[in-house]
Amino acid sequence: EEASKIVVKPDLSLPEAKHIKIRAGAAHRETRVVVHGWVHRLRLQKGLAFLVLRDGTGFLQCVLSGDLANAYSTITLTLESTVAIYGIIHPLPEGKSAPGNHELVADYYKLVGLAPGGDDAISNRVQENADPSMLLDLRHLVLRGETLTGIFKVRAALLRSFRRVYEELGILEVTPPCMVQTQVEGGSTLFAFKYYGEDAYLTQSSQLYLETCLPALGDVFCIQESFRAERSHTRRHLSEYTHVEAELAFLTFDDLLSHIENFITKTVQYVLEDEEIAAIVKKLNPNFVAPQLPFRRMTYESALEWLNEHGVPNEDGETFKFGDDIAEAAERKMTDEINQPILLTRFPVEIKSFYMQKCADDPRVTESVDVLMPNVGEIVGGSMRIYDLDELMKGYKRENMDAAPYYWFNDQRVYGTCPHGGYGLGTERILAWLCDRFTVRDCSLYPRFTGRCKP
Ligand code: 4AD
Repeated sequence: EEASKIVVKPDLSLPEAKHIKIRAGAAHRETRVVVHGWVHRLRLQKGLAFLVLRDGTGFLQCVLSGDLANAYSTITLTLESTVAIYGIIHPLPEGKSAPGNHELVADYYKLVGLAPGGDDAISNRVQENADPSMLLDLRHLVLRGETLTGIFKVRAALLRSFRRVYEELGILEVTPPCMVQTQVEGGSTLFAFKYYGEDAYLTQSSQLYLETCLPALGDVFCIQESFRAERSHTRRHLSEYTHVEAELAFLTFDDLLSHIENFITKTVQYVLEDEEIAAIVKKLNPNFVAPQLPFRRMTYESALEWLNEHGVPNEDGETFKFGDDIAEAAERKMTDEINQPILLTRFPVEIKSFYMQKCADDPRVTESVDVLMPNVGEIVGGSMRIYDLDELMKGYKRENMDAAPYYWFNDQRVYGTCPHGGYGLGTERILAWLCDRFTVRDCSLYPRFTGRCKP
């Protein structure tokens, strides 16, 4: 009854408030500020309201007292409502804790958008133990939670670090097209569509385009979405993922392997140099240990030996023999057991793509590499590329591919060919490893996989 009459009013005699983001709180203590954000947590006590405000840059505890706490708009306030809160940020006394070790003592606030309470309250819409597919339907709301916001901050830091390492190495960023008319990694996972009446696909990999950039721009990289119409439901396959790819000219297979291990190690080092990000990684993945150089090198054939010695069967339940694919389950078993990054090399020609260079000392196998990480398995796939035109033609033939649409890729072997190689890294996979996520779906803003294209 009484509260319904109390309305919050500004005190016009107070100094003007400076508009800040929560991140800047520590630098603006003891002066009047206004902070805009979403009500992340809310606790009403007699004569006092504690709310934690969220603005994406951080969390800020705000304290309302007196009329501000007793006002009708305060006692009917709800989680996820938006407000502008005016007041002064003070450091917390010893023994108390809050984000940033300070709190804003409010003198006034404005309600911007009141979120529903009752049945429609956010806590009723989003329930942590709900079915995963229901949570994915509500991804736009679930995103606001601390786990996902943490992951996406680490993701941004990761993308920053990739670019920083490439910049230091003098490797140039390019942006190849997503709509293409060639395949890279096999016809079975192509998303096809009509492009002004012509057949076209969503790109599986920008590799072929990166190769054409070498004579023009030197070593290049791209961070681009790749698309795979994967039919299997696995915890590490998406239909759309952010693919980090690099292509390097005039190097040996060994050079490529050291580049890859250095790239991963440096990137992780830069991610963890940021204290805010390091704290998030620590929280999500308390046992994380940064990888050390050099990574363990293992050939495909020695992996088969390892699997057979450890009684891990192939996909048909038999012992592994040369030419078998090492499927996800077996690969994971081996990687988890060895429990350190592995550079798995020299895969047989038959199980790899048309463009891969054969090993000079054994034409049954290719200069190819997968990087395997504990808990996730493969995070990188790379190889040296065939740079002899006739060899490449045999590759198309072996894979029953028509060489004609690849005329531009073939020209690469005509006008000044060179030994070269490169790799692709799955952003969601390395992130799942870094943040200890069970599935890569947690690492994509709006994950796309079999049967899921919304929201
Ligand atoms: O091993 P992949 O298929 O290699 C290529 O596409 C090469 N053309 C890349 C290159 O050499 N430029 O894919 C590379 C990486 C994998 O190691 C994995 O991390 C990721 O891309 N990846 C996927 N991530 C999520 N969902 C999928 N369906 C993925 N398919 C591949």
